[in-house]
Amino acid sequence: MSERTILAYSGGLDTSVAVKWIKDKYDLDIIAVSIDIGNVANLEAIRKKALDIGAIKSIVIDAKDTFIKSFIYPSLQADALYQGKYPLHTPLGRPLIAQLLVDVARKEGVNIISHGCTGKGNDQVRLDVSIAALAPDFTIVAPAREWNMTREETIDYARQHNIPIPVTVNSPYSIDENLWGRAIECGALEDPWKEPPRDAFTWTREIDDTPNQAIYIDIGFDKGIPISLNNEILSGISLIQRINSLAGDHGIGRIDHIEDRLVGIKSRELYEAPAAVVLLNAHKALEEMVLTKDQLSFKAKVADEYANLVYNALWFTGFKQDLDAYIQSTQRYVTGTIKVRLHKGNLQIVGRKSPYSLYNYSLATYDKGDKFDQTASTGFIHIWGLPVKTQSQAQSLFNN
Ligand code: ARG
Repeated sequence: MSERTILAYSGGLDTSVAVKWIKDKYDLDIIAVSIDIGNVANLEAIRKKALDIGAIKSIVIDAKDTFIKSFIYPSLQADALYQGKYPLHTPLGRPLIAQLLVDVARKEGVNIISHGCTGKGNDQVRLDVSIAALAPDFTIVAPAREWNMTREETIDYARQHNIPIPVTVNSPYSIDENLWGRAIECGALEDPWKEPPRDAFTWTREIDDTPNQAIYIDIGFDKGIPISLNNEILSGISLIQRINSLAGDHGIGRIDHIEDRLVGIKSRELYEAPAAVVLLNAHKALEEMVLTKDQLSFKAKVADEYANLVYNALWFTGFKQDLDAYIQSTQRYVTGTIKVRLHKGNLQIVGRKSPYSLYNYSLATYDKGDKFDQTASTGFIHIWGLPVKTQSQAQSLFNN
């Protein structure tokens, strides 16, 4: 009997070819593991396909709830956006996939994990580093880093070995999607001067196809977690799916940027992430109302650190645990409701309320009911300006 490996199996071309390639080159029997973190059309068909191609066992795991609870929501609470733009849906999924692969491997008594990542991307780093953290004793096999086949050659290999070729092979793009977003790479997009073709997008409508009428949605948060839409309490999955569809219909959530990969390459990345964009904006708007100036400015720095560590494959680290502790502490009063207007690709925050709001009408108003003592400002300004005045006089900064 051959040794066995766990293969992260998506049902796509590369991982299907990998089943045969690993068996032939490494003489390993394959246990395929397919993980659903959203937008997997037919998990059962993928499970069967792995067996048809030659896996000795095929396991499917629905991990959507864990993905939301332990990966998407902590990152939402952190306000994490890589380079200020990318809601990180792919990098958030990888550590979870790694964790589940390791769990299955331990259960099966296997210590070799295989995946279909290429040697040019971030995903190989995320999987390998996460596996190394959770199972330092494991070996990793990554055939796509070794086989040196172009896409055409991979398709030829599949034909020669009677491996069914997925219809998605006809798509000019490389797609990675889950509940939190969709990444579109390759094809025409590799020319950064070219406007993305319309067919690159499937979750978001073109502006000329969006409704003329705006819609308003109310999002309720409890300690930084979105719990309701228009006053209806929803599960994480329903809430995210509904906002994906509502905001996508209004053309919201398209992101087109030049991204700095961990492996040193700049790449043109397109994303569709309607729910992520809406929820990140709404969450931030609520924080603006319940956190102080100091809390907000320090938290923005933490958000940037957090986004970098998620992107850069450092999920399973002490640093991440430390930041989590800080972020959780900041969310104690992030409870309330945000009203968002969606129209023609634009998202506007138009209303906010919270039982913990620091906005105080009687301090802010210029109308009757003003409780702010304006006469106190004179003394405040005198002391606030004292060091400015002292320096200006002592050092003639402005030639006075
Ligand atoms: N550039 C993005 C990232 O590194 C998206 C990667 C998408 N992955 C893929 N296998 N197509 O997170």
